Amino acid sequence: MEFETKAIHAGQASDPSTGAVIVPVYQTSTYQQEAIGKHKGYEYSRTGNPTRSALESCLAELEGGRHGLVFASGVAATAAVFSMFEKGAHVVLGDDLYGGTYRLVEKVFKKWGLAATYADVGDLKSFEGSIGKRTRLIWIESPTNPLLKVIDIKGLARIARKRNVLLAVDNTFASPYLQNPIALGADIVVHSTTKYINGHSDVIGGAVVVNDAALYEPLKFYQNAAGAVPGPWDCWLTLRGLRTLGVRMREHERNARSLAAFLSKHENVARVYYPGLKGTRDYEMASRQMRGFGGMLSFEIAGDFSGVERFFSGLKVFLLAESLGGVESLACHPATMTHGAIPEQERLRRGIKDTLIRLSVGIEHRADLKADLENALRKV
Ligand SMILES: Cc1ncc(COP(=O)(O)O)c(C=O)c1O
Repeated sequence: MEFETKAIHAGQASDPSTGAVIVPVYQTSTYQQEAIGKHKGYEYSRTGNPTRSALESCLAELEGGRHGLVFASGVAATAAVFSMFEKGAHVVLGDDLYGGTYRLVEKVFKKWGLAATYADVGDLKSFEGSIGKRTRLIWIESPTNPLLKVIDIKGLARIARKRNVLLAVDNTFASPYLQNPIALGADIVVHSTTKYINGHSDVIGGAVVVNDAALYEPLKFYQNAAGAVPGPWDCWLTLRGLRTLGVRMREHERNARSLAAFLSKHENVARVYYPGLKGTRDYEMASRQMRGFGGMLSFEIAGDFSGVERFFSGLKVFLLAESLGGVESLACHPATMTHGAIPEQERLRRGIKDTLIRLSVGIEHRADLKADLENALRKV
């Protein structure tokens, strides 16, 4: 079956008791048992809930994995992965990544004895050189947040396998419509389902997908033991969003491509970061491992921070907001917003300048989005 068909049908058979075509919201915390130990597969909704199961199955199928698990947020899904390792374990992370992942590692997991090294996302050798005796995991995003760098997942998976280390890919920016890391050799796929998967900026959620039962079991145990599970309504809304992921992603990308081309030629723009721009390394890599280039782009304005402030004040359609992946266009300032948790010097070393602006290109009409940027850029 093709992606769009799976998104609408996988894990979503009609309700056996009523024939309802849409998976119901099983708004229940517990389940009656016929006798001690005799039940219909559900005992307590922290452990399992049928609406949640539908979302988990659909996500697993769309990512090409056997097992899906959903969490109360993308950060909770990320925490589940890092929780698999013993005290003293070491992880290697790509150095361009969501600021909240950096904060989770630096401020939470390091306290519990996890060691971390950040490798240059533009250089696979930097990842290989960072692997030591205690390394258990390589963690990357691709495309990365916020510089949209594309990492050779197949190449990195080869290195991980050779050195007996797991590879986890945060696939939030691409979505399963554009990229399936498991097919490229990754062991673990993570999503902030808050973003493209839900797609309507009205739910916070996260997911982990794996193929291997030896990874699924401890993650499933953790999900129940730590308890950061989404409620049935949030699962239902996310599943409703997921059903239209394909059509939405096509529109996001169409708009992003045209805005990236427009921004590249603008005199008040110093640099554009978008993997769909021809002639770059990221374009070559994205063409090989992705089915498109996505709806996220970043750019540096030719000016200073006051120019950035004037740009944001000139926007009318793009909303100044954190997050991404919804149908509406959002603009954010990574240095003070999504990546504000990274100390300034470290942030600048990673190339996240004060003049960097990140756009989540929505599915409004292209002409309105272009006019909005044109107008705001005039104020720079
Ligand atoms: C790439 C990426 N991963 C993970 C997260 C965390 O997800 P959540 O905000 O749903 O906890 C985000 C949030 O912005 C993100 O951009």
